[in-house]
Amino acid sequence: MKEQNSPSAVVSEATSSETNNSSTEEIVQRHWEGVVKRRSFLKGLGIASAALSAGALLATEANAQSKPSTGKLSKGDAELLRFAAAVELIEADLWQQYNELGGVQGGNPAYIAALSNLDGDMPQYVADNTDDELSHAAFLNAYLIAKGEAPVDLDAFRTLPSSQAMGAKNVGRLTNLLKLNVDLSWYTRYRSAKNTDFGVKFKGPFTIANQPAIPLNDNDTPPNQTQPVPPATPQEARMQAIANTAGFHFAFIEQGGASLYPTLAFKATDPEVLRILVSIGGVEIDHFGLWHDKAGNAVAQPLAGVTDPETGLTFPDLNARNSELDQTNLILPEPCEFISKSLPPCSVIRPTSTHNGGAVATVKAFTDDLLFLGQSPAFFSVVNRLAIEADSVRRGF
Ligand SMILES: [Fe+2]
Ligand SMILES: [Fe+2]
Repeated sequence: MKEQNSPSAVVSEATSSETNNSSTEEIVQRHWEGVVKRRSFLKGLGIASAALSAGALLATEANAQSKPSTGKLSKGDAELLRFAAAVELIEADLWQQYNELGGVQGGNPAYIAALSNLDGDMPQYVADNTDDELSHAAFLNAYLIAKGEAPVDLDAFRTLPSSQAMGAKNVGRLTNLLKLNVDLSWYTRYRSAKNTDFGVKFKGPFTIANQPAIPLNDNDTPPNQTQPVPPATPQEARMQAIANTAGFHFAFIEQGGASLYPTLAFKATDPEVLRILVSIGGVEIDHFGLWHDKAGNAVAQPLAGVTDPETGLTFPDLNARNSELDQTNLILPEPCEFISKSLPPCSVIRPTSTHNGGAVATVKAFTDDLLFLGQSPAFFSVVNRLAIEADSVRRGF
């Protein structure tokens, strides 16, 4: 391990840090006084000097950004980052399963073809989303270690079975994609002017229950079959229904991240922890927007109408309903009630309350999804403890 990643090395560097000795408020006040002094100085010198000084200020800022802040994390900040790390390990595990089979270098041609019926770039997006989650998990754990904090390790719980289909590695998994209940309420929620945080409950436009999101084995879905639109054989329809389920599951997972990170960010005390949570959270939102668009192609012409011959699940033509709560291209968040009903509607990520979008809510949503089907009581006890700790954090100003 490099020295900069060692907890003891970083802790010893922290002794002279201003964050050790001052409240964040005092630090902000000191920086503000500095800005006011610099402004008076620039006024006196005129524009040419001001431009030079602005350059010098930018250089100072760039220099500051090249070094991580020193100083220990508060207990609460460490708990926020640990729950984020746990979620990222879970996300990385499920995305790796998708990527092995359906990513741009995935090993199951029929699954890749069925995903590509949603959008020709799907295999690339699957690979990139996987890379992003791996980077989130690795960064958060490395940051915790650099701050002298314990990282999150869920390796003991990689016990769930892999798919038997061509392309899947035969290794233990944290998550189960073989039989999912995919909550689709987010689809309606983001098209509605109502907000879950005001107590409104949404129903999805249809129901995905007990449905695989990856191919199970090569008898069920031959890996080299073609995937015409519409599918011509029961096995092609089965594979297309599995890929369509994946499309909706991608959006389900990432809308969860989109809500979770704001709830964690509200509670952060150290500006650098806030920066981490806001910056990773922005990528979860980016993922959600992408998958929201692609999932809609499973329920629009020409692909709409696929029925899984095993489970009976049908992907309806949602545009045939002529309703704004169903229309597939209405993927940008409809302005909705936010903070107070007396304020005008605002286009926002929702929910962002701890109760509806926080850590415990995230674990519950993933559990209801059957993502943890077969996991041990010890696994649930670890993730629930991390979630309760994160939801209990209060901002420390
Ligand atoms: Fe992530
Ligand atoms: Fe994500």
